[in-house]
Order: sequence, then C-alpha cells, then structure tokens
Amino acid sequence: MKREPILFGISAFQHDAAVAVVRGGEILFAAHSERYSRRKNDPDLCQPIVDDAIAHGGPPDRIVFYERPMRTHLRRLRAGQSGEIFDNPWPARNLRALRGLERAPISYVGHHLAHACGGFFTSSFEEAAVVVADGVGEFDSLTVWHARGRSLRRVFRVRYPHSLGLLYSAFTRRTGFKPNEEEFIMMGLAAYGTPRYHELIREDFLVPVEIPQFQLRCSVHGGVDGWRPELKQRQDIASSVQKLTEDYMLRLLEWVAMRIGCRHLVYSGGVALNCILNGRIARLPVFDDIWIMPNPGDAGSSLGAALAYSRRKVRWATPYLGHEIARPFDAAAAARALAAGRVIGVANGRAEFGPRALGNRSLLADPRSRFMKGRVNDVKGREPFRPFAPAVQAEHAAEYFDLPRGDARYMQYAVPCRCADKIPAVCHVDGTSRIQVVSASDNPNLYNVLEGFRRETGCPVLLNTSLNVKGQPLVNDWEQARQLGDAHGIPVF
Ligand SMILES: [Fe+2]
Repeated sequence: MKREPILFGISAFQHDAAVAVVRGGEILFAAHSERYSRRKNDPDLCQPIVDDAIAHGGPPDRIVFYERPMRTHLRRLRAGQSGEIFDNPWPARNLRALRGLERAPISYVGHHLAHACGGFFTSSFEEAAVVVADGVGEFDSLTVWHARGRSLRRVFRVRYPHSLGLLYSAFTRRTGFKPNEEEFIMMGLAAYGTPRYHELIREDFLVPVEIPQFQLRCSVHGGVDGWRPELKQRQDIASSVQKLTEDYMLRLLEWVAMRIGCRHLVYSGGVALNCILNGRIARLPVFDDIWIMPNPGDAGSSLGAALAYSRRKVRWATPYLGHEIARPFDAAAAARALAAGRVIGVANGRAEFGPRALGNRSLLADPRSRFMKGRVNDVKGREPFRPFAPAVQAEHAAEYFDLPRGDARYMQYAVPCRCADKIPAVCHVDGTSRIQVVSASDNPNLYNVLEGFRRETGCPVLLNTSLNVKGQPLVNDWEQARQLGDAHGIPVF
C-alpha cells in the first residue's frame, strides 16, 4: 500500500514560528518554536523544534510554507516598507539551513487560504461559511469563503491597508502594549472602561461604507500613537476599540450567513483570538454551530498550510500535540495540595498547540478565594487587572457558566459566569469567564485533579493559567518546569 506523504506545515519569519506535521488524516505533531528556543514569540524556527517534529512524524516528504513570500514582498514594496524585505528575503534559504529540512520540496500557499483551511479541515462540517480576519496576510486583511468538500471559494475580501486587525493592533500600542503580541491584554483592560470614544474613533478612522465593506481613512500600519494625545483614559480607549471591532464583526457575520446561506461558521485569523467577541459570536442566532480551531492565529497556520496543500479533513482529536513529558502523574496529591490552598504547577503529557495552557503546562489554584488572583499574579508577575480563566468539569459546567454554542473546551469564549460570588478568582470585572470545559476523555489528568478537588471542597472549578512567568514562553520540558517550581516554591506534578 502506498505510504501517505509526511507534510511539514511551517509558519515562520514574522512572529511566533510554528511547525505542524500531518500524514493523511492525522496530525502527528504541532508546536511553537518559542517553547524550544525560550525566546517569546520567536519568529525563527530553531533546530530543537525541527528535531522534535521529525522524532514524532519522521522526515518531511514536503514542506508547505504558510504564505507566498513574493506577494508579501510586493505589498511591502508598494507600502514603502522595503527595509522589511531585506530582513528576511528568502524563507527557503532559512529553512534549508535547518538539519532535516535541507532536501524536501517546498510549496507555498496563500496566507488567508492557510487560515481558512486550518479552520475548515479541522472542523466536523462538510459545508461552512469561513471567515478569516487578521492584521494582514499578503494583500488581505479579511476574507470570506464558502467551503464544501475539498473546495474553498472566496466570496469577499478586504484588501490592505484597510484592516480591522491592524486598527486593533495600532490601538494596542496607543494604550501602552506591544502590538502583534499583547492585543489580549488590551482586550482584558477594555472590560474596565466604557466605550465613550467609540464614535470619535469611528469618525477619525473609518469611511462610512455599507457592510461588508471596511475602509480606513488612512493606513494605520505605522501605528496611531499620536492620536488625540489629550485622551489619557486608556481603559476607555480600549473599550471603544473593542466595541468598534465587535460591532463590525457581528454585522459582517450576519451578512455572511445571508450571503452564503450556510448555518455552520468556521472562524479564523488573529482576530479570532478575541474571546470577548467570540462569546458574542457564539450567541448570534444566524449560526447553528461554530468552530474556531484552537490556534487560529499565524502560528496555527503551520497546520493550516499543510491542510491547504492536502485539502483533506484531519481528525481533530486534541490540542496536546507538542513536546512530550512522560512521567507518572499523581492527580490525588495535586488535588489535595490545591484544597490546602497551594498554587501548583502541572507539566505532564504533550504540550498544548496554541496560546492557552489547557492543563498540560498549567498553574492551577483554588478559584474560590478573593486573594488567589493576587497570589498567582505574584508568581507570574503580570498586570493585576488581567483576568484568570477557569477549568470546569463538563458535567457541572452549565451550573456555573452560561455556555456558548461552539466547542467550549479550549478557552476561546468569554461567557457570563453564573456564580461570580462562589469563584471570584476566575470571574472578570465584566462578569465573564474564559472557560475550559473538561471531560475525562479530553484530558484525564486534569479531569482527575478537578474531581479530586471537587470531592475535597465541593467545587468542580479550578483557576487554570499558563505555567510561565511574565515575558517567558510556557515551559516545555520537565527541567524548565522544575526550575520554575523551585524558584517560586510551587510543587509541580
Ligand atoms: Fe494571519
């Protein structure tokens, strides 16, 4: 029988490089370069991730790169950003320098097509409306596709420099955070403000056009740092930009449902990391079901690139696709430590593919204490206003949270918390929680810790955040986890 080719999907050389290995309908490996190199949002591929990918999948028969570099160069040339071209003129040359990638042929797929295929071919839908929204990929910032079987037909696009994602990133910097990295922090801050500048931002930046169009008055790719310097309330600015983003996307999605006439939505691109907006999308009556691949940004397009080449559905079984820590796990001891008020680390099994720690590289804590947020923040050294997310046993999830329509296993949706008084450490100031619903089949270790904690305390919820400290990537291997635990006096299981 003919062997299925091994495809290495790669996204790299802009921010957050990643590798995914696909063979036929199976995802064999997927991980982020930063976890191996220890450089946060590492744009480059490092040798250890390539070695790990080969160890899990074998050497590649083909490499598929997540965008067409010549088109990106052309856009930069037209936008007067030719300096960036020379930072990294030929991705192939950088790939060939890595051991194991010297010989396999390289194919290139469109940036938005990779996002769209990463979403659609990991979904369970035979037919779907696919929406991709990001900062920019080649010449596109937003695309809408009609996907059926193996084909994706593009029905709408917003072209650079018009870009909702770039506007969000520009305001991320205007509010004091790092663009292309800390958009989620501005989103967390938005909950503390009121959208009082919403109309002002709309008038200053948007041309009034009909949905689905989106048109900026000027390019914001260079930032909006000088915008109305007299306005200092950054939580209100954040709230206003969040509202503008939500308003456009929700109206666009209603148009999409009507235009395509399909009640299944696949949503992808960096904007799909906005869990507050996702929570609202999950309540749109125009769709029956939604799928957001748990790593919808450019790193996830490593997987999307491979699928754009193969045009085949893969079995999405798990987000635990990265480096493996194979050690015995004592769930009962972990639950006892949590019930005794300890903050604990978990570093076990394969690492999560995507930005969220989902129980295999996590810090866990008791969500019932008002003081726990401060204690975990002391360990992580991050901004005190940022919320923490809950992991909840599937059979108790609806008691504690107003569940979304989509798959709630991956911390992608902020949803109303029904019992904020019972679990204050995982409920944000706006009354929402970014939930992870855990069943025994999805993650038996985490489920068993939750079950042990529930038996001890009556509470089926834990605070679950990433096992890292501010400015560092998630830990990847046992040695890194042990060192972090030792440095902060945290038991790691
Ligand atoms: Fe993108």
